[in-house]
Amino acid sequence: MAKIFVTHPIPGAGVDMLRESKHEVAVNRESRFLSRDELLEAVVGCAGLLTQLREAIDAEVFDAAGDQLKVVSNYAVGFNNIDVDEATRREITVCNTPGVLTEATADIAWTLLMGVARRAVEGDHIMRAGDWSGWKPTELLGGDIEGRTLAILGAGRIGTAVARRSIGWNMKLMYTARSPKPDMEALGARHVDLETALREADFVSVHVPLTPDTHHLLNADRLAMMKPTAYLINTARGPVIDESALVVALKTGKLAGAGLDVYEDEPALKQGLTGCDNTLLLPHLGSATIQTRARMSELAARNLLTVLDNQAPPHAVNQIQA
Ligand code: DGY
Repeated sequence: MAKIFVTHPIPGAGVDMLRESKHEVAVNRESRFLSRDELLEAVVGCAGLLTQLREAIDAEVFDAAGDQLKVVSNYAVGFNNIDVDEATRREITVCNTPGVLTEATADIAWTLLMGVARRAVEGDHIMRAGDWSGWKPTELLGGDIEGRTLAILGAGRIGTAVARRSIGWNMKLMYTARSPKPDMEALGARHVDLETALREADFVSVHVPLTPDTHHLLNADRLAMMKPTAYLINTARGPVIDESALVVALKTGKLAGAGLDVYEDEPALKQGLTGCDNTLLLPHLGSATIQTRARMSELAARNLLTVLDNQAPPHAVNQIQA
């Protein structure tokens, strides 16, 4: 019997699945994230951790847990919060939840794209404030979507699902990726370099993982390549965009607008961002549907239990030699 710690309560059947196993399961029952010290104390003696994307899981946590730690199962597809190299050195398997949140996250990218282009939230604010004086030829004019060019940065599962949705809008598609992707080519998408994508697209949607290479991928220089009529959408990870540079671009008319679900220093926003009317800002809702979070819950539990049973988990991000 091994000790498992779930760092924050999760919806769905995941915790029940863990409890039905032969292992001893503890769940953080606070309705908040644990402080660093609390986390370090809670993991002592654990063989399995079910973790959240806002927790840094690194050498300090591995030391605190002890040598018996075998698996860290992240309740997310992204795993930039985990020091995977250090985990691998210590033969700790790191798991994530790809696939099950693809469609929900693609939907949020489109919610942002349509919402910011058609100024839906600004309109909603006018209505709620009782400020609407009736139809006007010039009120809240947005940008067309149909027939425009959509660039997908990072043609993985979610990027491809966002691209697939654009077919109904008859959009011209382009994408960046290290090599051509058959699923994207099948959609008629053009494989281009980053500069071409930024210079030619009317909508740019970010889907690259956060790594040292993609940190501030969209910096001031790259944002300046975009058309002043273009919109930037980010449902991946905040630090891929230099958020301060984005605020400047939005305020100075270098970009038409941005739809963001993720931020550089979550939950804080860079100064000036909330003052930009040409933004639609969501609180990291990409996977936030009842059904998706339930599927993530089951997958995260399955990942964890399989490793404790000395078998290959459905989704590991590192390879541990047997
Ligand atoms: C993830 O899974 O990485 C999303 O950001 C949250 O579900």
